Amino acid sequence: MNGSSAQTTFSLRPAALTDLAAIVALRVSSLVEMGILETDTINQPLMDRLGEEFRSLLSSVQFVSSLAVDGDNIIGCAFGLLSNRLPYPISSVQGEVAGVYVVPNMRMRGVASQLVRSIVIELQAREVREIILRPRRAEALLYTRAGFRTAHLMKFSQ
Ligand SMILES: CC(C)(COP(=O)(O)OP(=O)(O)OC[C@H]1O[C@@H](n2cnc3c(N)ncnc32)[C@H](O)[C@@H]1OP(=O)(O)O)[C@@H](O)C(=O)NCCC(=O)NCCS
Repeated sequence: MNGSSAQTTFSLRPAALTDLAAIVALRVSSLVEMGILETDTINQPLMDRLGEEFRSLLSSVQFVSSLAVDGDNIIGCAFGLLSNRLPYPISSVQGEVAGVYVVPNMRMRGVASQLVRSIVIELQAREVREIILRPRRAEALLYTRAGFRTAHLMKFSQ
């Protein structure tokens, strides 16, 4: 699959174990940008833990991934997590789109849109009952354009 923008061409592919360091770097950048992680708290133990968690996910059948690649550079990522819900007539499996991130200099060219689409296709292929995501308010447009609609989700926060 190729990007449609005239300014850039990229391709999408699933992540492999050899991408581990690049995926961790993208995740750290994303967490910093979202204000979840302070740059001065980034240290080797944290990087190691994130690496181990991604290593485990990459070998899990309940995980799907899509990387946007421009030449040798990984410019974006998106992931899908499958989880079992209570028994339901159609399917008891839920898919969640998560970890959508595009490097700053490659934004607004449709990279995230294509990443999200590819994860949705992968999750649909697993016959999930529903596909959810938890957008930050500013990114809601990206996801409504990708076919997501607001649904009820309450979060416990005490
Ligand atoms: C959000 C993010 C993934 C968007 O990546 P991108 O490749 O620039 O997105 P796209 O080019 O595919 O944009 C798709 C649509 O969403 C809109 N959009 C993208 N980023 C947006 C933002 N921050 N605020 C509002 N709208 C946005 C675009 O205008 C575009 O609309 P269009 O179809 O009318 O052109 C990227 O800005 C990012 O990585 N941000 C930091 C991490 C983050 O916040 N992740 C999301 C967690 S929910």
